[in-house]
Formats: sequence, structure tokens, C-alpha cells
Amino acid sequence: MCTPRSSKQGGKSPRETRVEMVELVLPNDANTMGNVLGGRVLHWIDMAAAIVAHRHCRSEAVTASMDEVSFLAPIRVGQMALIAARMTYVGRTSMEIRVDVQSEDLLSGERRQTSTAYLTFVAVDKSGHPVPVPPLILETEDEKREARAAEARRAERLEEHDRTPREMEQR
Ligand SMILES: CC(C)(COP(=O)(O)OP(=O)(O)OC[C@H]1O[C@@H](n2cnc3c(N)ncnc32)[C@H](O)[C@@H]1OP(=O)(O)O)[C@@H](O)C(=O)NCCC(=O)NCCS
Repeated sequence: MCTPRSSKQGGKSPRETRVEMVELVLPNDANTMGNVLGGRVLHWIDMAAAIVAHRHCRSEAVTASMDEVSFLAPIRVGQMALIAARMTYVGRTSMEIRVDVQSEDLLSGERRQTSTAYLTFVAVDKSGHPVPVPPLILETEDEKREARAAEARRAERLEEHDRTPREMEQR
């Protein structure tokens, strides 16, 4: 039997928790032009990120935010959506996960990047209260660079989060 290297208390690397999913786009996933619906892609992104978050913290976890997502190219009915998700940063109770979406044509094999998303999940207990997560072990230079960029994104996100209720009150 294979024993996981890290314990619940110990840190985990992005390699240990990464997720790759493949979805074949069917007519029920598409709009009237035969392109995948944006909402369907967002669902796949959320699912992939949720699995990464759960693999890292091994507790309940909820989506706290999803940064702005663009759809750079359509994914057509009959093409595949390749969804790759990995942990980029962890705070005390929160985790940032990057999700990349590519299209792959079944016949030609051509791949195109269609979206990149950053999501924040928060580990919670059964009552929904945030709980600490294990540290992230950064193994490669790319991972260290991504974690530094994540700190800047986190600062911006929290600033926006603080500002939003005040702006709503002023309306
Ligand atoms: C996410 C949630 C648990 C945060 O609860 P909270 O009481 O605001 O928690 P705190 O202020 O103690 O913050 C906990 C962590 O979440 C982070 N956080 C809170 N709101 C955030 C947001 N909107 N975006 C990014 N991170 C956020 C904080 O920075 C903190 O991170 P850290 O511990 O790593 O420093 C709570 O807002 C919630 O349950 N939201 C609903 C989640 C949900 O139902 N999602 C499904 C889709 S609707």
C-alpha cells in the first residue's frame, strides 16, 4: 500500500495536490452557437480548485473568491476542455489555487489556452469557522515565483474585500 509522504499537520507541495481533469464538450454544455457556456467552464474551474484545496487541507473548505476570469477563445462542442489546477499560496486558513483551461481538438490535437483563474478557498470546521491549513512546500523556482505573485494578488483582493461593503453603504 502507498503511504502519503505528508501528514495532516505537515506541509504539502503543489505537486502532491495538483489536479488534471478532462471534459468532453457536449451539446448540453453549449450555447446556440455550439460554444461551451461560460458558467459551465466556471463550474469545472471551481470543482478542480476545490479538489486541490481538499487534498491540501483534508478538512471542509469553501470558495471565498474567484478573481476575474476571461474566456480568450471558444471551446466548441466535440472538443475537449483540459482543466489543470494547482496550489500557489497558503495563508493561515486560506489557500490560493490557479486553474488553467485549454481546449483540445479531438481530430487535430491542437491545444489553445482559453482561461486562467485564481480562486481562494478557506478551510473551515463543521460550523463553517476558518481553521488553519498545513504550510505549502515550494519545491521549484516557478513555484516560488508564483507564490510571490500570489502575495501581491492577496493584498489587492483583501483591499477590494474591505472596500466593497463601504461602497455599497454609500449607494
Ligand atoms: C470564506 C469565509 C469562511 C471567510 O470567513 P470570515 O469570517 O470572513 O473569515 P476571516 O475574516 O477570519 O478570514 C479567513 C481567511 O479568509 C480570507 N478571506 C476572507 N474573505 C476573503 C475573500 N473574499 N477573498 C479572499 N480571501 C478571503 C482571509 O484573508 C483569511 O485568510 P488567512 O487566514 O489565510 O489570513 C466566509 O466568508 C464564508 O463562509 N463565505 C461563504 C463561502 C461559500 O459559501 N462559498 C460557496 C460559494 S457562495
